[in-house]
Amino acid sequence: MATHSFHVAIDGPVAAGKGTVSRLVAERLQFLYVDTGAMYRVTAYLALQHAIPHTDEAAIVAVLQKTIIEMYNPSPQEKDGRLTTVKVDGDDVSWKIRTEEVSAGASQVAQLKQVREVLVEKQQQIAAGQDVVMEGRDITYRVLPEAEMKIFLTGQDVIRAKRRHLQLQTRGTDVAFEEVFRELIKRDKQDMERGVDPLRVVPEAWVIDTTDLSIDQVVDLIVAKVHVLRESHE
Ligand code: DC
Repeated sequence: MATHSFHVAIDGPVAAGKGTVSRLVAERLQFLYVDTGAMYRVTAYLALQHAIPHTDEAAIVAVLQKTIIEMYNPSPQEKDGRLTTVKVDGDDVSWKIRTEEVSAGASQVAQLKQVREVLVEKQQQIAAGQDVVMEGRDITYRVLPEAEMKIFLTGQDVIRAKRRHLQLQTRGTDVAFEEVFRELIKRDKQDMERGVDPLRVVPEAWVIDTTDLSIDQVVDLIVAKVHVLRESHE
């Protein structure tokens, strides 16, 4: 069935700039921004809260299914540098899900098949009939395989680790650069080597290396291309 919605699907490794770029592209185009990584982070957060081991798939899925997760653009009072507001049963966890502990847990729970099934379905429901910029690891080929635009955003390892380090410092988390770098490489490896829906580049994706580009340059490139594609679809 033909719909008039336009889907921008963005995948890429840790700290490639997906969040910031997606949020700005969505604002410029008046599309909805969906951070799917936040959903895997919430899952890991729930497992930690309920003291469920990251390997106990059935227990994690059970908690996930009875939890109300809300995600929306931050309201003016909530604008404290976050890209999206995330609530778990009404509790604002937007920053609680950004710790290194939750990051590591998210990469682990993301390996669970049933967890992915539940979250992919939620993501597809969110995108149905709406213009969205959705970012994650499997958006271009699993969540939105029919997306009008597919992008793989990447960047050199050291540059990505520097960005991640700066982000953590800005939030008052004092971690050594070497540790951030090690964690980033470990998470990338886990994301690329997992058995279910690993991070990969689909042949039709537009690969953008952000190493030598500013955020604004990347945003301009994507927005310009969306305009061209939309005109050619009309
Ligand atoms: O993008 P992020 O760092 O917030 O993602 C957190 C973790 O979730 C990351 O290790 C990869 C995983 N993830 C995934 O497997 N599939 C997605 N669509 C999004 C994130």
